[in-house]
This record gives sequence, C-alpha cells and structure tokens, in this order.
Amino acid sequence: MTEATIKEARILMVDDDVSSTCLMANFLNRIGYSRLKGLNDSTRTFEIIETFRPDLILLDLAMPNITGFQVLEELRSNRRNEDQVPVLVLTGDPSSENKRRALAAGATDLLVKPFDASEVSMRIRNLLQAHFLRLEIQDQNHLLEERVRERTSELESALSDLNAAQRMLVQHERLSAFGEMAGGVVHDFSNALMSIIGYSEMLITNPGARANEATALEYLRIINTAGRDGAHVVSRLRDFYRPRGAADLFEPLDLSEIGLQSIALAQVRCSNRASDRNIGFETELESSAPIAGIAAELREVLTNLIFNAVDATPGQGLITLRTREQTGEVIVEVSDTGSGMNADVRQRCLEPFFTTKGDQGTGLGLAMVFGIIKRHQGTLEIESEPGQGTTVRIRLPASTHLQESQPSAVSSFENSAIANPSQLAVCMS
Ligand SMILES: Nc1ncnc2c1ncn2[C@@H]1O[C@H](COP(=O)(O)OP(=O)(O)OP(=O)(O)O)[C@@H](O)[C@H]1O
Ligand SMILES: [Mg+2]
Repeated sequence: MTEATIKEARILMVDDDVSSTCLMANFLNRIGYSRLKGLNDSTRTFEIIETFRPDLILLDLAMPNITGFQVLEELRSNRRNEDQVPVLVLTGDPSSENKRRALAAGATDLLVKPFDASEVSMRIRNLLQAHFLRLEIQDQNHLLEERVRERTSELESALSDLNAAQRMLVQHERLSAFGEMAGGVVHDFSNALMSIIGYSEMLITNPGARANEATALEYLRIINTAGRDGAHVVSRLRDFYRPRGAADLFEPLDLSEIGLQSIALAQVRCSNRASDRNIGFETELESSAPIAGIAAELREVLTNLIFNAVDATPGQGLITLRTREQTGEVIVEVSDTGSGMNADVRQRCLEPFFTTKGDQGTGLGLAMVFGIIKRHQGTLEIESEPGQGTTVRIRLPASTHLQESQPSAVSSFENSAIANPSQLAVCMS
C-alpha cells in the first residue's frame, strides 16, 4: 500500500464545535489529506456515513442531542464486522473512566486534547493503514471464496459426469458380457447340433449302421449326450440373470471317460472338415481319479480343444488325448502335430472373438474353455510353437482336493462362461 493511497482516504470529523472541525480540517489538509467532511450536528452522523462512506471517523464525545458514546454504540450495533470504520475519539476529558467507556463502546483509538500534532498525524496514518489492509484482506477473502465456489461447482459437475460415465461403462460392460456369453452359447450349441446332425445322418443314410444294433445304439447315445449338452449350453443364458441352483452342483466325474465321449462327439467335425486329411486319434488314459465337475461343460472343453487341433492339422497328423494324475490333480491334455501358434496368436488366443480362421471361426472356443476351467477351479497351460504342434494342458483338482466353496455360490456374472482371460491362472510357453 502506497502513501498516496493513504492520503486518498475519506475522513469524517464529527464535533459540535465548529472551530474544532475547522482547525482539524486545516491540519489534515496540511499533512496531505484532502477528502474531508466536517459535521457539527451529530444527529446526522449516520446519514452522512451512508453518503460520504468515510475510511476514518474523528469523533468528539461531549456533544448535545447525540453524544459520541451514543454514536459509537449505534455504529457498533448497526454495522457488520466487515463494514466497521475505525473511530478515533478526540476528547477533552482525560479521566481514565472516560477513556475506558469510549474504548468499551467501540472506539478504535483515543486522543486527549490538546493534541500533539505529530502524534495525531501518526495515529491517523496507522489507523488508515490498518483499515486499508483489512479491506485488502477482505477483498482477497471474497476472491478466494468465489474461486472455491467456482472450483467446487466445477468438481461437482466433473463428479456427476464421472458418475454418468461410470454408469454407462457398467451398462456397456454388461451388454458386452451378455453379447459374448450369447455368442458363446450359439458357438457351443452349434457344436452340439453338429454332432446330433452328423450321427443322425449316418443312421439315416447308412442301412448297415441301422442294422447293427450295437452301432445304432452307440450313435443314439452320442446323439442323446449331444442333445443334453446342448440343453445345458442354453441354460447358460438363464444363468446370466439367475444364479446357479442346487441342480448345478458338481458331481464326481472320470476325466478319461469324458475324454472318450468328447472324441466321439468331435469326430463328426473331423469327417466334415477333414475329409481330405488323414488325422489319427490316440488316447493315453492313465487317470481314473474322480474330479468334481459338470460333465456337459467338460465335454464342451475337450470337444473345443479337439476341434482346434483338427483345424490346425491341414494334412496328415495325430491328435492325442492324455489323462494322468499328479499330487492332488488330474491332468488332461490335448496335443496335436499341427501348425502350432506364433507368439502373438499364443498371447491372444484366449481373447473372446479372437480367431485366425476368418469366417470359419468365431474366436469363442478357447474363451469358453477358459471360463469353464475357471469355474472348475482349474488351470490352463498352452504350449505351442509354429510348425511344432500344440499341447493344451488342463489341471483340475482331484475331488478330495477341491476347495469348499463350490460354484453354486458364485454370482451369475462370474458363472458366465466368458471370463476375462487375465483372471485365470494360465501358463503359456
Ligand atoms: N491347437 C491349435 N493349434 C494352432 N492354433 C490354435 C490351436 N487352438 C487355437 N488356436 C488359435 O487360437 C485361435 C482362437 O481359438 P478359438 O478356439 O478361441 O477360436 P476359433 O477356433 O478360431 O473359432 P471357433 O472356436 O469358433 O471355431 C484360433 O483361431 C487359432 O489361431
Ligand atoms: Mg475353436
């Protein structure tokens, strides 16, 4: 704050004695103050304050009609704290009682007549400097409050945008999870239908197969299993909005048996797609330890892996299904001698809708495998090198080693066979 600013101050002098106000005005003028107003009728004090808006009031105490004390009290009761104008009381009564009363009534400072000129000048200057500093702080405070209000409203609007975006994201994720799950259902249901159509066609077109009761019964059993598996696949749509019930509790299963059933179901695909190929099937089934699971889902897993192995074998090749036991686990492997995967495909093969087969593939097979194995508390390993074939290895806990929490308690979202690949323990090499 500059000296010039202080000298710009408006000073109101209230004193019933005209000569006192004249003398004071002359003195103030001499020391550089020019915006002055003298008031000899104290009854008009508040009217003049409203119009003149003083930065300092010089107030006499002993005045007729309204005394200086009354003015002080009125000022104090009428003004908000931030509108307070400093009041320098000028009094001829040097008694301490008079000083105490004036200060108690709200006087900012007090001088007893006759005054020392330089003391008056210093006190006025100090009071004005403090007053202007207080005004400056008040302005800064208003500015800060305004900024805080602005920032708060900006933050509130950003928060509401964020909430809206979050709601949209959740909606979008639900829709896309539903889309993936529905795609998976279509994918696996088509696989089941393919087995039903393939084996029933063989029965229709092949009188020999019909005549041989054992063969006909075997085909009918496969058709029946595929039909049941298809029904199970469709029930996944229901799982999306309704958690699994007691009927879906796991049962003890023999993976070697599931493996044989899966080969039978998958062989139709081989005859459809691989008519010009020479693909052999081999089994090395060493495990009979029970695992806890859902048979239809594990057949889906193995038929998907066999389909992939068939697709990866362009000419001659061998597909091997192995089961074995290893400390508390049952391992099932599907190996092929096919084209194998490069690092990029190996990285991405579990992503829903990732396929290298163009229109021939949906890219949902391994994603389904993935979700099912996760629900069975298993792990998945993929070993594959270009030109060296592929082995997909699944480890499932032997039923005595299963954790207590079974999937019936899992939410419908987690039950969706499409899972986020990053959530499953997968080892790839
Ligand atoms: N045994 C395998 N050998 C070589 N590549 C494989 C093998 N299994 C999977 N892949 C690769 O992983 C990709 C994804 O497989 P996934 O089963 O998810 O879908 P898809 O087989 O392409 O389509 P769909 O399952 O609908 O037929 C395949 O497109 C293929 O490139
Ligand atoms: Mg596939």
